[in-house]
Amino acid sequence: MDQIRIVGGTPLKGTITISGAKNAALPLLTAAILSDEVLELTNIPELADIKCMLELLEQHGIQATRNLEQKKVLLHAQSIANTTAPYDIVRKMRASILVLGPLLARCGEARVSLPGGCSIGTRPVDIHLQGLEEMGAEIELKEGYIHAKAPKGLKGATITMRVVSVTATENLMMAATLADGTTKLVNAAREPEIVDLANCLRAMGASIEGDGTDTITIHGVTKLHHAQHRVVADRIETGTFAIAAAITGGELYLKDTSIELLPSFISVLQKTGVIVEPTSDGFWVKASGHPITGVDVMTEPYPGFATDLQAQMMALMTVCQGASLITETIFENRFMHVPELCRMGANITVHGSSALVRGVSQLRGAPVMATDLRASVSLVLAGLAAEGETWVNRVYHLDRGYEHIEDKLRHCGAHIERVKEAIAA
Ligand code: EPZ
Repeated sequence: MDQIRIVGGTPLKGTITISGAKNAALPLLTAAILSDEVLELTNIPELADIKCMLELLEQHGIQATRNLEQKKVLLHAQSIANTTAPYDIVRKMRASILVLGPLLARCGEARVSLPGGCSIGTRPVDIHLQGLEEMGAEIELKEGYIHAKAPKGLKGATITMRVVSVTATENLMMAATLADGTTKLVNAAREPEIVDLANCLRAMGASIEGDGTDTITIHGVTKLHHAQHRVVADRIETGTFAIAAAITGGELYLKDTSIELLPSFISVLQKTGVIVEPTSDGFWVKASGHPITGVDVMTEPYPGFATDLQAQMMALMTVCQGASLITETIFENRFMHVPELCRMGANITVHGSSALVRGVSQLRGAPVMATDLRASVSLVLAGLAAEGETWVNRVYHLDRGYEHIEDKLRHCGAHIERVKEAIAA
């Protein structure tokens, strides 16, 4: 397995162009199932998860033409050859569940492996299934698979989701575009990725309003058609590199993104004393030269502080002046970066869903283990600030969500390299 080696201590300086959002691109790719005409997506990031989703779509019979140079994908679901999403693909990427709604809407049936849990939590899909049942689907769980049928098509319904769920909102919104009648999603997720998906569906001919609020209304139509759509910037990558500037005492220009995509994160970052200067196509992040002030953080659904930025903010707080109480309210096990940060000299105590971070003057490099996508990047951030050498193992987690991260950081002065695993002779 590849490793990443970092020698910390260099303040980062330069410009980083933010890629398209992984968590927007994944549902956008599955939206292609809803039409028998071509869907053209641009600003698609080059990530392991995108490759995995394309594999899944191709085994459903969708033609995918990818131009990496132009970050473009052409998808053509002229016909669906197979309505099964197999376990060996779904287990690698939970977002595969996003084919369920589109397959049911397009074909009237779907057999999708249950995604199972992952390291950050059990992550059930009951809200997805309950919503589809309320739209008239018959759903049975058998041998680890979701067997869903809607032979007479889906019907519009008013669905109140018990918990705010991003992919459940996306699955149900996509399914509702071809349902008979109007669907109302109550307690819907409000993330920018939901709005981006709604924009693409509208370009395909769907009738949707209220996306970005907690109530989304979809009026079913009989057919969706060809569309082109550019994937929204990745707000989590944006926040991650903003912290890279802050934690190294440097200054970075983050291009092709916007502070509007992560309002709560920006306000917390400014409270720590970091300077943020918006421009027309991005924003500057500059260390103030004073010590980082400790700020309390609680993760919440958008527009609250994103759970996907919790580990990265914790890395910054490990070197704050004072302390920070970080509370994770979305997932039940999202502190796996804590023991690894402590091996680098951080002072963190976990009580249930809260972690008390007492600032230390200096982290020290160490060999550390990545456990999930966002935890692994928090170790890279800590390594950039630490004195000495940090080796991050299991970097395949990183490759799932960050496009060429070591190149982007090295171009801003970081001493960072990927060490390919020596192939056993
Ligand atoms: C999406 O996951 C993101 N993934 C996650 O990003 C992100 O952390 C999460 O939203 C929260 O923002 C994609 O968009 C592909 P949820 P999702 O359903 O939709 C519970 C990353 O690092 N829940 O919003 O799976 C669930 O257990 C990934 O890029 C149910 O109980 O998350 C959690 O506690 C990690 N039943 C809460 O809701 C359900 O049917 C929010 O989960 C669905 C969810």
